[in-house]
Amino acid sequence: MPRLSARTPHVVNFTLNGKPARMEAEPRLLATDALRHSLGLTGTHVGCEHGVCGACTILIDDAPARACLTLAVQLEGRDVRTVEGLAPAPDKLSTLQEAFRRHHALQCGFCTAGILMSVEALLKQNLEPSETEIREVVGGHICRCTGYTPIIAAIQDAASLIREEKEHV
Ligand code: FES
Ligand code: FES
Repeated sequence: MPRLSARTPHVVNFTLNGKPARMEAEPRLLATDALRHSLGLTGTHVGCEHGVCGACTILIDDAPARACLTLAVQLEGRDVRTVEGLAPAPDKLSTLQEAFRRHHALQCGFCTAGILMSVEALLKQNLEPSETEIREVVGGHICRCTGYTPIIAAIQDAASLIREEKEHV
């Protein structure tokens, strides 16, 4: 039987943005590095690498998770969504993304992918979040540029539009 070492790659099977995915990952490989370097999904940003800034937030089984604190091997069997999975089509933004664009809720954009993923999870659970609930979620993300006001407005706008969309289905 071959000797296992800390560098022995594991095969990881999971779902990535709705499609089956497979990769080889050393036990110490972080999910951020796996997504960005092994799978080429560079929309997930890396800031602090300590779980503080929120830039690397992805969804694992619909719950926000810091990818910089997650090992790639922990993705085995999980349903993973990244910012690349938000838009419904290559030429169409999601309602939430479109609201961010309309409200100028991003400048450099470094924080944006992480915020979008946390808010995606919030709106999936609660389409009528109070401003306090929105601020609690956004408070887990550091944005150096916007002052947060347009981000809050974009989220409120998106929630209202998604509610309307659901009423007309
Ligand atoms: S890079 Fe993961 S929380 Fe900052
Ligand atoms: S838009 Fe630059 S950090 Fe948020």
